[in-house]
Amino acid sequence: MKSMDTIKALGAVAALAVGAVAFFTLERPPVNVVQRGYRGTGLDEIYNPRHLAAQADLNKVPAMLPQLQVGPLAKTVYKNVQVLGDVHVGEFTRLMASMTTWVAPKQGCGYCHNVNNMADDSKYTKKVARKMILMVRAINSNWTDHVKKVGVTCYTCHRGNNVPQYIWFKNDGPPEAGGFAETYTGKNLMIGPNHSSLPYDPYSIFLKEDPQTIRVQATTALPGGDRHSIKQAEWTYALMIHFSSALGVNCTYCHNSRAFGDWSESTPQRVTAWYGVKMVRAVNTGYLEPVQSLLPSYRLGPSGDGPKVFCKTCHQGAYKPLYGAAMAPNFPELYQPAADTTDTGAMPAAAPPTAAPPTAAPPAAAPAAAAPPAATPPAETPTAPAPAAPTRQPPQP
Ligand code: HEC
Ligand code: HEC
Ligand code: HEC
Ligand code: HEC
Repeated sequence: MKSMDTIKALGAVAALAVGAVAFFTLERPPVNVVQRGYRGTGLDEIYNPRHLAAQADLNKVPAMLPQLQVGPLAKTVYKNVQVLGDVHVGEFTRLMASMTTWVAPKQGCGYCHNVNNMADDSKYTKKVARKMILMVRAINSNWTDHVKKVGVTCYTCHRGNNVPQYIWFKNDGPPEAGGFAETYTGKNLMIGPNHSSLPYDPYSIFLKEDPQTIRVQATTALPGGDRHSIKQAEWTYALMIHFSSALGVNCTYCHNSRAFGDWSESTPQRVTAWYGVKMVRAVNTGYLEPVQSLLPSYRLGPSGDGPKVFCKTCHQGAYKPLYGAAMAPNFPELYQPAADTTDTGAMPAAAPPTAAPPTAAPPAAAPAAAAPPAATPPAETPTAPAPAAPTRQPPQP
């Protein structure tokens, strides 16, 4: 009898354990699976319709006022326009009204302006906004390898908030001991990107000036030539978790997981992401760090640095911000005038990855299901994620 009880008790424990594993690791059905690579390679995207529905609500494009290219140039009318001088007064006013709804809908013009004297620069928000206009111009004009023709406006990051919802600060983490514990980076605590137990601050390492290279996989079969540490690998994976959660995609959206480092097996999206990394670095060092000195102390992080951007600042969980809706083309003043030499959003110094992304047609085996699930993207969006095409056949068993 006693042994029966033990077996029952063990059975109950096992059932509980299986239940717990299922609860914490599996997505509650239904989920949609979209094949993006050669069949049998497991290059699938998993979409959860519940998340997609919540996502769609967050990514509605706001109404845009019609263009108003009328009136004299702003510099002939206003007293203190340093950036928008060559914009017609009608369009200038439209941009001011749009910026207000994008950045300060509750506070209105007075968020940036001394409303008794619009030319006055006494509010820090106005000075930051001027730099932001330059930044948006640089993104739209210099970083078309990433933002393509759709570009960005203030709304892409701000979405009606004074400060964008998703930003990062240097994170020194919880107090730590010295000695052997010194290199502790928060791993094994669920405080890394997207609650992963990975280092909590891969951003300071990879998304600022003079960053570490994001290459950790050995290029030789034997360990001799591999100079990378486990810690470097952990930083890299932490950053990759951020990529995935920021875009709402799996690793296979960009990689063939049998060889993460191999460009020839990666999707074209990985190349776009590569430019994204360079763009984010240029934005953080060229625009956000310089305005830090203007910010009041309550805007700064625990280490005294200002807010910075990462992938989630624009993407907010979507594979393209606002599902790829055209944001900038309707605002010609948010592109750099041809003669502008003041820009600091430099082009990437390094050449893009040498192995060209696969441009071939999708493999014959790609099923019709390679189209995105119904909720992504909504009807008005121009492009859907293209199925990836491996350039060579996977090894035969
Ligand atoms: C998010 C910040 C922001 C908001 C909100 C904002 N502005 Fe501005 N405004 C600016 C900046 C920055 C400039 C200077 C542009 C430049 O230097 O080219 C400016 C300049 C102006 C000027 C020119 C003043 C002069 O004589 O030099 C006028 C007029 C103006 N804004 C009107 C408005 C109105 C009206 C609103 C509300 C509908 C508004 N602005 C809301 C940031 C803002
Ligand atoms: C790439 C993302 C991004 C875009 C695009 C963007 N901003 Fe920002 N903005 C930020 C971040 C991050 C901060 C917080 C850091 C700071 O204040 O320097 C910020 C802060 C600001 C602030 C200061 C707000 C406060 O209360 O402290 C203003 C004003 C502002 N932005 C205006 C604009 C305007 C106007 C545009 C469009 C011309 C714009 N931003 C476009 C990322 C962005
Ligand atoms: C949005 C595209 C994208 C997604 C999603 C993504 N990655 Fe990456 N990954 C990249 C890019 C781009 C690089 C290379 C950066 C560079 O070389 O500068 C990279 C590099 C890597 C590397 C280093 C490769 C080497 O050469 O050593 C590993 C490992 C990696 N990713 C793993 C992952 C994992 C695991 C996931 C899912 C959690 C993931 N990636 C999700 C774009 C992505
Ligand atoms: C300033 C805003 C902004 C930031 C920051 C940003 N992106 Fe993007 N990204 C965009 C826009 C806009 C598009 C859409 C371009 C298009 O229409 O193809 C895009 C497209 C992409 C795509 C192509 C998706 C597809 O299906 O073709 C990838 C991949 C991507 N971004 C990865 C990243 C990664 C990784 C980061 C962080 C290192 C990042 N992005 C940061 C604005 C941004």
